[in-house]
Amino acid sequence: MRIIEAKNYEDMSKKAAEIIAAKVVLHPNCLLGLATGSTPVGTYQNLVKKYNDGELDFSKVRSVNLDEYKGLSGEHEQSYRYFMNTNFFDHINIDKSNTFVPNGLTEDSLEGCKQYNELLHSMGAVDLQLLGIGGNGHIGFNEPSHEFKKEVHCVQLAESTVEANARFFASKEDVPKYAYTMGIGNIMSAKTILLLASGKEKANAIYESFFGPITPKVQGSILQLHTNVIVIADEDALSIAKEKGVF
Ligand code: PGA
Repeated sequence: MRIIEAKNYEDMSKKAAEIIAAKVVLHPNCLLGLATGSTPVGTYQNLVKKYNDGELDFSKVRSVNLDEYKGLSGEHEQSYRYFMNTNFFDHINIDKSNTFVPNGLTEDSLEGCKQYNELLHSMGAVDLQLLGIGGNGHIGFNEPSHEFKKEVHCVQLAESTVEANARFFASKEDVPKYAYTMGIGNIMSAKTILLLASGKEKANAIYESFFGPITPKVQGSILQLHTNVIVIADEDALSIAKEKGVF
């Protein structure tokens, strides 16, 4: 595991974009695992800039996303499909038919999970999986639990996650309560994992995930067992690890 300290959000985003860009240059037909949320927005902006500057070609790149709210269509402004299109895919030359996000409208949860899981297996190993991390240590929507779920599953969002995401909806009641998410086994199958964190509200999750015991109560802690994890965290996100003298 490599932990790279960034000065702030902008610096984190730039560094992350450099690593993803290098992957696309080396493997033009790579499979990227992508993430949503506030954390990767700046990374996507930097990648779009590199594309506009003629440095990158996404025409052969394929992508799979971590998760999607259950009940939202891809046209809903808060859906993760909409996020991916508007923050990234609409601005680069990726073939959208090669980009995959779970279908939030599949009502039968078992069927929704089965479909996305089969799709993931058919695509082969993710070359580089981008991850944010929740304040409670979740990765994807794998919430604190007594177990690590291996494959795609439908999850009830933790109260803290609903509260954290309420900022994007008219009210907390409008936040979907369930989501489809890759499981920990799916995430851990990626060849390289790139986890980003910015801000003091992530400091405890970073400390517990990378310097604490491996426990499903902090789902990110499983990443300690992956052989190729890069963490880019800014000073604030590393503040507790530093206070405790472990970084
Ligand atoms: P954020 O979410 O990037 O909006 O903070 C990260 C996450 O919950 O995984």
